[in-house]
Amino acid sequence: MLRAGGEVMLSAIALHEVAGSNARLREALCAAHLPTDDIEDGGRAFFEALFGDGQAIGYAGIERCGADYLLRSVVVLPAHRCQGLGRSIVEATLQQVKSGDVYLATTSAAPFFSTIGFSEVPRAEVPAAVLATRQLSSICPSSTTIMKLIRPPT
Ligand SMILES: CC(C)(COP(=O)(O)OP(=O)(O)OC[C@H]1O[C@@H](n2cnc3c(N)ncnc32)[C@H](O)[C@@H]1OP(=O)(O)O)[C@@H](O)C(=O)NCCC(=O)NCCS
Repeated sequence: MLRAGGEVMLSAIALHEVAGSNARLREALCAAHLPTDDIEDGGRAFFEALFGDGQAIGYAGIERCGADYLLRSVVVLPAHRCQGLGRSIVEATLQQVKSGDVYLATTSAAPFFSTIGFSEVPRAEVPAAVLATRQLSSICPSSTTIMKLIRPPT
């Protein structure tokens, strides 16, 4: 699935890697009230999802945490929600992860991620490197739900 130039094709969408400093990424995250304080720090990769005509439909990111990863910054632009695109973006992003476990933190989208194969895990079972990410250690509220990818998306 991974093509040259950091491009991933899945169904009708393509993922292109973008820098954390990308203005469209920041705008989409701000509009969805998702964290932007740390998006320009190292160890993160962000992707813009595009229709075949080049229209941007959403974003997602992965952050390295030791041997594991944090899936983060998942957003579908409002006009394109509820059409299965969020699921496609997450599935395409997860294809970037070849080893290790994948975790995420969410305050409102746990039911969405449950449909993709993530399950809630207690903080006591989350690796220290994941808990040490800025998202989990300082940006997200302590009440945030932490989830782990238990089974591959179907
Ligand atoms: C959460 C979000 C990414 C979902 O994107 P989407 O394109 O609307 O979702 P999809 O259409 O791919 O939905 C996939 C599945 O999840 C379900 N789902 C989507 N959002 C849901 C929600 N808020 N609650 C419960 N289920 C939800 C859909 O019904 C669908 O289920 P199905 O496969 O059984 O039909 C989108 O609503 C969004 O950008 N929200 C704002 C940002 C955010 O909260 N991001 C997550 C934090 S990292």
